[in-house]
Amino acid sequence: MSKRILLIIGGGIAAYKCLDFVRRARERGIAVRAVMTRAATEFVTPLSFGALTNDNVYSDLFDLNDEREIGHIRLSREADLIVVAPATADLLAKMAGGHANDLATAVLMATDKPVLVAPAMNPRMWLHPATKRNVATLDADGIQFIGPSSGEMAERGEAGPGRMAEPLDILAAAERLMGEAADGRQTTRGLRVVPDFADAPLAGRHVVVTSGPTHEPIDPVRYIANRSSGKQGHAIAAAAAKLGARVTLISGPVTLPDPADCRVVHVETAAEMMAAVEATLPVDIAIFAAAVADWRVANAGREKIKKTAASRVPELALVENADILRTVAHHRRARPSLVIGFAAETEHVIEHAKKKRKAKGCDWIVANDVSPATEVMGGDRNTIHLVSSKTMESWPEMSKADVADALMRRVAEHMAQIGAAAE
Ligand code: CTP
Repeated sequence: MSKRILLIIGGGIAAYKCLDFVRRARERGIAVRAVMTRAATEFVTPLSFGALTNDNVYSDLFDLNDEREIGHIRLSREADLIVVAPATADLLAKMAGGHANDLATAVLMATDKPVLVAPAMNPRMWLHPATKRNVATLDADGIQFIGPSSGEMAERGEAGPGRMAEPLDILAAAERLMGEAADGRQTTRGLRVVPDFADAPLAGRHVVVTSGPTHEPIDPVRYIANRSSGKQGHAIAAAAAKLGARVTLISGPVTLPDPADCRVVHVETAAEMMAAVEATLPVDIAIFAAAVADWRVANAGREKIKKTAASRVPELALVENADILRTVAHHRRARPSLVIGFAAETEHVIEHAKKKRKAKGCDWIVANDVSPATEVMGGDRNTIHLVSSKTMESWPEMSKADVADALMRRVAEHMAQIGAAAE
């Protein structure tokens, strides 16, 4: 007897790909019966699926005719496998929560047949902790997954994991599962085809981030410092790690904990920060959020400087520290694909930022007003302007964590566009 798939079509733009899935399945002698969620019918008409499946298309639990003729139990009973495609974030959430308030979810709750799910959604929705939780729950329930894969999304400018697997790949996985079920073999969770989150937007990218102030010694007990807390830089490192990047955070002296999933190198001085950055190259992306001291004390005392009887005030001779950002941006052998500097200004913020971007040779400058009244230094919120060679954007005030997330999403989009990879 030929195999039978019950295809549950969710409400996503990828629903049109299911038409091809049906055609390919039927070419192989597999019968397909379609159940559409209400949202799915907004993307593709039931008529199209009816023509291709040569069967009724079932779409509503409360359609009395269908309930009389064929109920959700029978829909499940008369199939060897259930395929859910495209499985939207909403459909996954309903499945994980055991909802049964429409025909699609009622079938999924009532079935004892293997279920293969092909997720499709915006990358941010796929990477959202709620979706991760739902996928983990469904995985533990024995639901099989195929995809999603990475790439351009239907929405312009969106890229990352979330594209539905190709119809032929879904079909191959479906045939394998039906073969196993027919052999009486239990479908194992090891069969999962792709569904982990290694496909994150910055997976495979190495990011270096500098953060915090530097301390420049005057003598063994005294130093020159600044008011940087490291909050913005640390948040950027954490955001990069969340998007799957390998992150090296080079941190000056701060009171913050090391962010999760980052390699953290602790340094004191600008010279140490420079050495740590150079030792980390090559990287794909370099983000210089540290408030590096511009000067160090040339004649720093080896011993504690003592007050003299004559009350002579010691004179400190300052020399300029090497500019880490400028050095990396002009690196001949190992210039990262994307170099981002910060500009902490107290007046003419955008004007200074544009000049600074050119002078330092970096691709983007994140400029912020650090005048005392803004409470940016040490505070939890930030208002930034993102300056590139062609564009300038002023973002609304946000938490430093939100600035970091938004900035790293922009970085991921940019990297996807230029398609550059580390050596
Ligand atoms: N920077 C750096 N190394 C330095 C000084 C600055 O890497 N020795 C980086 C900072 O991390 C920041 C950017 O350069 O990304 C801008 O630093 P900023 O102190 O604002 O600029 P300056 O070059 O010091 O200019 P000015 O102080 O005159 O505004």
